[in-house]
Amino acid sequence: MWFFHSQCTSKSRLVDKTVIITGANTGIGKETARDLYRRGARIILACRNIQKANDAIEDIKKNPPSKADREQFQGAPGELVVYQLDLSSLKSVKECAKKLLTKESAIHLLINNAGVMMCPQETTEDGFELQLQTNYIGHFLLTLLLLPKMQSSGPGCRIINVSSFLHLFGAIHNDLNLKESYGPMKAYIQSKLANILFTKELARRLKEANIDEINVYSLHPGVITTEIGRHYNTTIFPGASTIFQIFLQPFLKNPEQGAQTTIYCSVDEKAADETGLYYKECGVATPQWRAQDDQIAKDLWDKTCRLLHLECNEDFANFLKTVSQIIK
Ligand SMILES: NC(=O)c1ccc[n+]([C@@H]2O[C@H](COP(=O)([O-])OP(=O)(O)OC[C@H]3O[C@@H](n4cnc5c(N)ncnc54)[C@H](OP(=O)(O)O)[C@@H]3O)[C@@H](O)[C@H]2O)c1
Repeated sequence: MWFFHSQCTSKSRLVDKTVIITGANTGIGKETARDLYRRGARIILACRNIQKANDAIEDIKKNPPSKADREQFQGAPGELVVYQLDLSSLKSVKECAKKLLTKESAIHLLINNAGVMMCPQETTEDGFELQLQTNYIGHFLLTLLLLPKMQSSGPGCRIINVSSFLHLFGAIHNDLNLKESYGPMKAYIQSKLANILFTKELARRLKEANIDEINVYSLHPGVITTEIGRHYNTTIFPGASTIFQIFLQPFLKNPEQGAQTTIYCSVDEKAADETGLYYKECGVATPQWRAQDDQIAKDLWDKTCRLLHLECNEDFANFLKTVSQIIK
């Protein structure tokens, strides 16, 4: 990548901090784990494929980030552990959250990174469209379940939602599951817009409830060579993945470069007093108009609660208590 390649320059160390990264066995998630592990954090790789996650751990332990002599990487590295999480199953999300709440004494950073893009139409065991559930609904529920633990782990906790610039072309449809009008890209860009709206609405609710221990961020990481295009050959045309790689090569970041904005939102001091905003290239950016609309954000929140059978309650502290009941 020869232009637009910002670096997170923060020298923050994360000794005694616990970080959860969903989808950390490859791509941006794995590179984020590699960086934060060298800053001294206990990293929880929340992944659906345990073997792939263990392989990622081996790789992260063996290979430091490319600029390993930087101040933030000096000192002892942290720890790497795996938890099973399949975001396309609410049962799995609840089990993972329950285990995390029981076993972890604190959670300081939650990085909602896992994602799928442009898959063939598929309905999950919970009855949701696959991209909607993996990219948005699964993370929505996981976050709500972990919030009380994060609140007690503060101050300075952060939740990061990895979105995409492709949200620019997205809308939130009445039929969130796109049952009658499915398109692989339509579903992806809706889910990525939902990530930003969730960030905005969660930040608003936290502020209103005077929960100032937790800030929330959403971001576009860049366009990066990862496994995200694994469905292109099926849903675009055979060979699409290779053709995109060849033509887009000069504009693509490698995964380490692609992790920089996630790392920035996770550790940088400049972002410490910001919440509810959208970032790209290690700085605040402006998302499309729908992502800035308070009513769209609130409506999506309420609709998601209804889909999850969570009682909508404007008193956020009480709302979190009722959410916690579902895993008791
Ligand atoms: N790459 C880009 O150009 C780009 C651009 C904009 C935004 N993004 C966003 O960046 C994030 C990371 O993507 P990436 O590029 O690093 O893609 P990637 O290499 O395909 O990594 C995606 C990760 O998500 C995990 N995942 C998928 N479905 C899951 C599920 N049901 N439960 C748990 N984990 C699941 C994958 O696990 P498995 O290995 O088991 O499948 C993998 O670890 C995504 O949210 C994506 O939308 C990427």
